[in-house]
Amino acid sequence: MNVVVMGAQWGDEGKGKIVDYLAQDAKYVCRFAGGANAGHTIVVDGKKYALHQVPSGILYPGKTVFLGSGMVIDPEALFAELKMLSDNGIDWEGRVFISDRAHIVLPGYREMDKKRDAARKRPIGTTGRGIGTTYSQKSERDGIRLADLDWEEKMNDVDQADKDFLAPYMERLLSMRIDIAAKMWEIRNENILFEGAQGAMLDIDSGTYPYVSSGASGSYGASSGSGIGPRNLDKIYGVFKAYETRVGNGPMPTEFNADSEGELCDYVRKTGNEFGVTTGRARRCGYLDLVALRYACHVNSIDSLVLTHLDVYDDMEEIEACVAYDIDGELVTDFPTSIPALNKAKPVLQKFAGWKQSIKNLSKYSQLPKNAKAYVDFIEDYTGTKVGIVSVGPDRNQTFNREKIWKK
Ligand code: GDP
Ligand code: IMO
Ligand code: MG
Repeated sequence: MNVVVMGAQWGDEGKGKIVDYLAQDAKYVCRFAGGANAGHTIVVDGKKYALHQVPSGILYPGKTVFLGSGMVIDPEALFAELKMLSDNGIDWEGRVFISDRAHIVLPGYREMDKKRDAARKRPIGTTGRGIGTTYSQKSERDGIRLADLDWEEKMNDVDQADKDFLAPYMERLLSMRIDIAAKMWEIRNENILFEGAQGAMLDIDSGTYPYVSSGASGSYGASSGSGIGPRNLDKIYGVFKAYETRVGNGPMPTEFNADSEGELCDYVRKTGNEFGVTTGRARRCGYLDLVALRYACHVNSIDSLVLTHLDVYDDMEEIEACVAYDIDGELVTDFPTSIPALNKAKPVLQKFAGWKQSIKNLSKYSQLPKNAKAYVDFIEDYTGTKVGIVSVGPDRNQTFNREKIWKK
């Protein structure tokens, strides 16, 4: 059976933690989008790992992982990450493979990405990892795929500086390269987990364009970005936080107001440790945006939601979530495409009573206080999507599963 895990907000929802949790019963994990712009955190027995390109299943001995066709691979960063794993006693040799259709990030692309964003009238606030430049080279049909590395005529045209950059990685890249389409077809009836990066609202097509990343972070990316047909995907999980965060620029209708909600913002940022894994930037924080979440459920066919960071609200007297936007006096519940409309949108908030107790050490969903369950019930009703998994802390075991994962 094949299960997709994608972000249902603006990234950093806790995908790494959830993929690691679900990977227990998967044989393979395939990352399908983005590159070194992602930062996926996994905590096992109090030890923290930050992964950027290597799929989050790697921490389980014996699991095979794939870097999919939809990814953009930065060889320098990838081998540094693999060395970090070796240094921590994780034996990855022979179980990390890269799609022959994945594109390569050259060092000049990182500089181009930074320069281009700095020169924009309305900067996106990219991670500066060369992501947009690599995906645009791909769309221009000028990119270099792993499959092209031994295409002599093509490689002859590559700049000498780039050839020198690639040289020390060449042998290792070739040894990890696979025909992912053939592999996916072969293993399609086993348990495969598809790991998204970024999130629904950062997707190039469904996100808040142009304030998005450049890859397919929506559920459809699991198919195009790994080489398996869409009908071979059985279940789609959308991960979201009990509140909202965003890194970089672009509209965020429920962002806490620095003047009137500064204290709440500081509280959530500090309690939730809302600082980027890749860039260290403080994340923008806000109320849970149910208008955006329902949109994410619809456009990605999300079967089941995964609620994370519920524990961050443990000490709150009262919680609020956005159930509509007020745009020029009109109540809107369909997520707008227009950036000026999103910039004008004021959140219409609904209040919920807090639970005022620590939920971090509970061991199952039924033990949650009734007010926490009422918040979950409301989210399910509003989005029309069940909340199948709830996370109450960063550790693997701080997770409550409410359904059979590997069953349709
Ligand atoms: P990803 O990019 O979606 O994998 O998420 P990140 O790793 O960038 O950010 C999520 C952060 O929240 C990490 O520091 C996780 O360790 C942490 N985390 C994950 N789930 C929970 C949770 O339920 N509660 C709390 N307090 N932290 C969590
Ligand atoms: P994970 O997988 C949060 C954001 C950047 C910027 C925009 C474009 O950890 O959830 P890019 O460098 O991709 O061209 O930047 O997208 N961004 C992310 N924000 N989590 C991520 O990944 C992100 N990957 C990109 O901050 O606003
Ligand atoms: Mg992240």
